[in-house]
Amino acid sequence: MTLRSVVLGTGHYLPDRVIENSWFEERLDTTDEWIRARTGIERRHFAAEGQATSDMGIRAARAALDKAGLRPDDIDGIILATSTPDHTFPASATMIQHGLGMTHGFAYDVQAVCAGFVFALANGDAMIRSGMARRVLVIGSETFSRILDWSDRGTCVLFGDGAGAVVLEGQEGAGASEDRGILASDLNSDGQYRDLLYVDGGVSTTGTAGQLRMQGNLVFRHAVEKLAKTAHTALDKAGLTTADVDWLVPHQANARIITATAQKMGLSMDKVVLTVADHGNTSAASIPLALSVADAQGRFRPGDVIVTEAIGGGLSWGSVVLRW
Ligand code: ACO
Repeated sequence: MTLRSVVLGTGHYLPDRVIENSWFEERLDTTDEWIRARTGIERRHFAAEGQATSDMGIRAARAALDKAGLRPDDIDGIILATSTPDHTFPASATMIQHGLGMTHGFAYDVQAVCAGFVFALANGDAMIRSGMARRVLVIGSETFSRILDWSDRGTCVLFGDGAGAVVLEGQEGAGASEDRGILASDLNSDGQYRDLLYVDGGVSTTGTAGQLRMQGNLVFRHAVEKLAKTAHTALDKAGLTTADVDWLVPHQANARIITATAQKMGLSMDKVVLTVADHGNTSAASIPLALSVADAQGRFRPGDVIVTEAIGGGLSWGSVVLRW
């Protein structure tokens, strides 16, 4: 028998304020047409003034718990993927823990930028399989609107705010690829590329939060090269091939990257969950948001094989394969 981390429920939260591409046309030398054609993004949500990453994480976590039919008391720990925490410390996960009324269990943040949720999911799975926890809330929540340079048209049009969450539970499996739950993961980082995508501030350097800087076309090339590869590696570890894949739930950075990755994997676009048009790039929140939206639409069936993949600052990238 093998312990498997099964997804019991998903949930998400998007702030009320919706920003259409036309909002940028009024402020920058850009067009709705350029943004749609180059990224697939049509609109994004921005957090309200005073609305923190943990506030959105609490809403998404509650929704996931409701879907799973569980209460905060049933959870052993919280892992939050974020690069936009409420404070430098403590971990924003502890704010979420408190907001849920929990005084037990662990709560910590994982920082792998846009790949954060994949890293957090693999982390939650490792804790469950090692017996350190039975049920873990894995959350991605981001307020990237707070670290954007509004004069940089190459970055500020790309990002949005939001949160998504999943509840994982350890269940006995046979140790075979037919098991439900997380079957395999593949995580990678390579700090030689740190200057391609970073924030130009920090506690031990400038003492400020800083603003996002990106060499978009270079990140684009790495994404197209690395995402299909990590998905293949994780599928291989799971004893599966792309022919077994029912759904690709990719990080939602750019529709062109997603299409190129699906093509490389030989998957038709009707197997791909796409939310980038309505959410923009919500960094570590994008995969749990896409999972939760597709789940709420009833698109996943028990037994479906789902592949998630993401790349972000670091560079850091990875993939998780799970059976629904
Ligand atoms: N409106 C109009 N023109 C623009 C805009 C804009 N909003 N932004 C850039 N341009 C211009 C550039 O100035 C450039 O003009 P020039 O040729 O006169 O110099 C031209 O468009 C082409 O610029 P590129 O950067 O080469 O455009 P590209 O086709 O690569 O698209 C984009 C840019 C959308 C950023 C793309 O490179 C991309 O999606 N990159 C990957 C982003 C990503 O996946 N990031 C990883 C996750 S994010 C994270 O970890 C936080």
